[in-house]
Amino acid sequence: MRAVDIIMKKRSGGELSGEEIHFLISGYVAGTIPDYQVSAWAMAVFFRGMTKGETAALTKVMLNSGDVMDLSGIKGPFVDKHSTGGVGDKTSLILAPIAASLGIRDPMMSGRALGHTGGTLDKLEAIPGYRTNLSREEFREILDRDGFAMTGQTREIVPADRLLYALRDVSGTVESIPLITASILSKKLAEGTDALVLDVKYGSGAFMKDAKDGEELARSLVDTGAAMGMKITALLTDMDEPLGNMVGNFLEVEESIDCLEGKGPRDLMELTLELAARMAVLGGKAQNPSEGRRLCEEALKSGKPRQLFLDNIRSQGGDPDSFLRMRGVYRSDTRGEVRAREGGFISRIDAWQVGHAGVQLGVGRNRTEDAVSPTAGVCFHKKGGDAVKAGDLVMSVWAKDREGLEAALPQLERSLSYSAVPPESRRMVLKSIEPAGTV
Ligand code: URA
Repeated sequence: MRAVDIIMKKRSGGELSGEEIHFLISGYVAGTIPDYQVSAWAMAVFFRGMTKGETAALTKVMLNSGDVMDLSGIKGPFVDKHSTGGVGDKTSLILAPIAASLGIRDPMMSGRALGHTGGTLDKLEAIPGYRTNLSREEFREILDRDGFAMTGQTREIVPADRLLYALRDVSGTVESIPLITASILSKKLAEGTDALVLDVKYGSGAFMKDAKDGEELARSLVDTGAAMGMKITALLTDMDEPLGNMVGNFLEVEESIDCLEGKGPRDLMELTLELAARMAVLGGKAQNPSEGRRLCEEALKSGKPRQLFLDNIRSQGGDPDSFLRMRGVYRSDTRGEVRAREGGFISRIDAWQVGHAGVQLGVGRNRTEDAVSPTAGVCFHKKGGDAVKAGDLVMSVWAKDREGLEAALPQLERSLSYSAVPPESRRMVLKSIEPAGTV
């Protein structure tokens, strides 16, 4: 077999066999096939796409390129949630303890912020002392005891994805549905979960800018996941505005505990409960999403998920009491604000602009090696649909330094649109997507 023949076959729209995909990807990981051939192949895939069979074969080869987490000996069911990424998206932090309170175990392996999207690991590490580099044994032990554990991906988990993702990033091939599908699912399969709820986002702050592309990605993910033996379901959700009222690492942990105390903002609570309801169904705790949602609402009222979250902070190296004392005060000293330019209604807050302003503030990063600030971020006092008078406070802003603040403030101003009449209300969940043949 020769890599060039595989590239040319895909370039002409042919369907690659499992052996051809295996040859190319395992050769790449072993260093026998060079970057330039794999990037030519990725570009051919970008334009020609892949069949369901090819996507499943790619997912399998990527999964087998590294270790798989061994959860044997721990009582399931194991159910995780994965989001395709957004701005202000802290649902993982709220969902894991809700699911755990229902007797579901959530083995979470998460990523870091990159570009305008936030990362769960950076949020958790904003809690002083909290460790996200758990050893396998620690991960298993905490998962078993607390019902969930939150760690980063080790170098041994899906090495093919680390190499391929870096190559896609510099070859203009990130936004390919089969490549995204294999990248996400290989990592989720490697963490050992049996079931997965996907939050596939569309809108300005998402990878997929419109609902049609979002639905295509969701369909590819659920069908490939089901073909790989996972229980899987996806929700197609709105990411046109930042989720919730806080964007920032510590700020988002704070907002998560607000939600666990039943005081979360409407959009964030709605999305979290819809995702949690699906986790309850896939974990066999509810017959359907409405029963799942009722169970999750009752769990929240019991206070158990909040306690599990605080227990997990202790298990992973933080101090829950000092965390609670830091609420409302752990903020950078470099502070600014955004006030309404005009009166009427806020018609929209553009998530993409807020995400990029967040990078300037120190919430996120442009390069993987950049540091982030725990105490930078934005608190929205008004969201889309709210009435404002000119001069009202719309955002409180905290930055890692003055230069970052000055760069971010004009962009945050630009993120706001106004209207004279109330805008149409947003639907957080557009639809749910099940594997083909199950509905
Ligand atoms: N997230 C991933 O993990 N992989 C992709 O390719 C895109 C988003």
